[in-house]
Amino acid sequence: MTDPAGRAQALRQQLEEYNHQYYVLDQPSVPDVEYDRLFAELVALEQEHPHLQSPDSPTRRVGGAVLERFNSVEHLVPMLSLDNVFDDDSLREFDQRLQRMLDDVSELEYVAEPKLDGIAASLLYENGVLVRGATRGDGRRGEDITENMKTVGSVPLRLRGSGWPQQLEVRGEVYMPRAGFEALNEQARSRGDKTFVNPRNAAAGSLRQLDSRITASRPLQMCCYSMVQADDEPLFDTHSEALEALASWGFRVNEEVKVLTGAEACLAYYHDLMQRRDGLAYDIDGIVYKVNRIDLQRELGFVSRAPRWAIAHKFPAQEEMTVLRDVEFQVGRTGAVTPVARLEPVFVGGVTVSNATLHNLDEVERLGLMVGDTVVVRRAGDVIPQIVQVVEERRPDSATPVHAPDHCPVCESPVERVEGEAVYRCTGGLICAAQRKEAIWHFASRKAMDIDGLGDKLIDQMVDAGLVKTVADLYGLEWPQLAGLERMAEKSARNVIAAIEASKDTELPRFLYALGIREVGESTAMALAQHFGDLQSIMQADHEQLIAVPDVGPVVAAYIEGFFASEDNRQVVKALEEAGVHWPAIEVPDDPADLPLNGQTWVLTGNLEAMPRSEAKKQLQALGAKVAGSVSAKTSVVVAGPGAGSKLVKAESLGLEVWDETRLLALLENQG
Ligand code: IVH
Repeated sequence: MTDPAGRAQALRQQLEEYNHQYYVLDQPSVPDVEYDRLFAELVALEQEHPHLQSPDSPTRRVGGAVLERFNSVEHLVPMLSLDNVFDDDSLREFDQRLQRMLDDVSELEYVAEPKLDGIAASLLYENGVLVRGATRGDGRRGEDITENMKTVGSVPLRLRGSGWPQQLEVRGEVYMPRAGFEALNEQARSRGDKTFVNPRNAAAGSLRQLDSRITASRPLQMCCYSMVQADDEPLFDTHSEALEALASWGFRVNEEVKVLTGAEACLAYYHDLMQRRDGLAYDIDGIVYKVNRIDLQRELGFVSRAPRWAIAHKFPAQEEMTVLRDVEFQVGRTGAVTPVARLEPVFVGGVTVSNATLHNLDEVERLGLMVGDTVVVRRAGDVIPQIVQVVEERRPDSATPVHAPDHCPVCESPVERVEGEAVYRCTGGLICAAQRKEAIWHFASRKAMDIDGLGDKLIDQMVDAGLVKTVADLYGLEWPQLAGLERMAEKSARNVIAAIEASKDTELPRFLYALGIREVGESTAMALAQHFGDLQSIMQADHEQLIAVPDVGPVVAAYIEGFFASEDNRQVVKALEEAGVHWPAIEVPDDPADLPLNGQTWVLTGNLEAMPRSEAKKQLQALGAKVAGSVSAKTSVVVAGPGAGSKLVKAESLGLEVWDETRLLALLENQG
């Protein structure tokens, strides 16, 4: 047994190694659970031996102390800003100006770096240990955010490698990658909280938390772009060497950084990166070019608050202001009615935008949006343009509120909103043109009417050609109508018609499922069929009768009632029956409690040889059993075929009854 101090030291080193692989190199070498195990061991050790705690321990990365306010700290050297250029010629002028000032240099070498769109931060290391993290503040003094910076995975708590000075200040950009930002906003949306306008605001808000545990929960990154030395003699001759050294000491340096010679190479780099901008994992708002030689940087010096030796070449903005002309409602393939913003066209993120998504009406409310408002539109990455903010002081007196529509803009059916759901839906199910293709595809799918050869390409063509409006129209088709469509010859057309014909001979549960009533999946359809026995009874059932069916709660019951309340849907059902769609009658037991497996929950796992799993499931359900997808202490019997894995292991660990297929077959034969 090693001594606790030695073990703690080893754990810290190992954990920081894993951390570096994960957050800096993007190359994790062990799964998260291994990291978590070692981390838990270190936490326990530090708790047991408080003297082993240290400020550079990875256990500090989860945050902890809650501050009352941030202290103000002075930077060793002021944090500067950059001058901007917005076009190619201005960049050429910048380059020529520098050449004139440095009269013995003909072509200048630059380091080109993406200008990350986050917030600047400064890290101070003493004897290789992070002792302070600070915001830029006014450039001279910033706020002490040490505890928060420690929670950022790509910030080394202790420097790696060798050659670092006794005191080192490193600067870089703290930012939130787009994926993390979208996920954070998605969470906020689902909780009904306010969303962040953009990744930069999210990063800034996350860093400025007095409770560092909140910062720890945010997906922040830091890329370093400069090294500050208070002493006179520079450690490196060039900026690129300094960046390489930073990487070797454990800092994350942006992977797109390049050394280039002359203005034209800089411009080529700029245009290349602008092309690839949408594909990057993070927002950038331009390119920064820096003179590579440190001696030349010193010769050029500074003007007011910016260096003469560097410049930012900005990209077109990803956020712009424009006016909201109208909010229209669109119906998706599943009947979701979503608001879409119609905008005064505006050039943003490299394209002209005249529409933006609004997700749902909760979002409209959260934004406080009114028609006529001036809004901020953001278009970044491949994400569809979004309205992220209303500029309230620009609201005209003529602004009007946004109302949810009562009727579907496509089929005029009533629109409903189910309790607890943010989405409004068209109740037009089978007759709504917006939902037609999806409804037909679902109707024909294997577990529904199982119409072979009726794929989405053919459905698209049939609907677009006006051959099919509702699923009932399928049964009136004749092969010559299909033979005229793309990639359809006489033979394939005849085959599809034959498959449609064959599908008429079906079963009630399949038919019910095929109707595409929301939330009525296969097992609910089965439960309804078994409970009621025939379609008429289901169509006439009231709320009380519906919720008496196992598997049917109030929400599902409301969808079923709503579906059959529609005269249009009833017409389609009638047309299907008239076309000859039929199924055998189902015997309904007088009392489901009399069924032999009533009240039992079964789980099927592994391969069954005598019959498909779906068939075994159906037969068990017919005997009154519920068939579940996962094993729990409440499971009555697990039927395990060859190849059964984790479910079998779990069943055994819970001491449940486990059957093989032979035993199941015997039961079904006896009872059937
Ligand atoms: S260099 C003296 N490099 O842009 C040089 N800045 O307006 C000072 N930024 O506040 C900055 N990426 O937050 C530099 N690769 C990069 C950068 C970068 C983003 C930000 C930084 C700074 C602002 C300058």
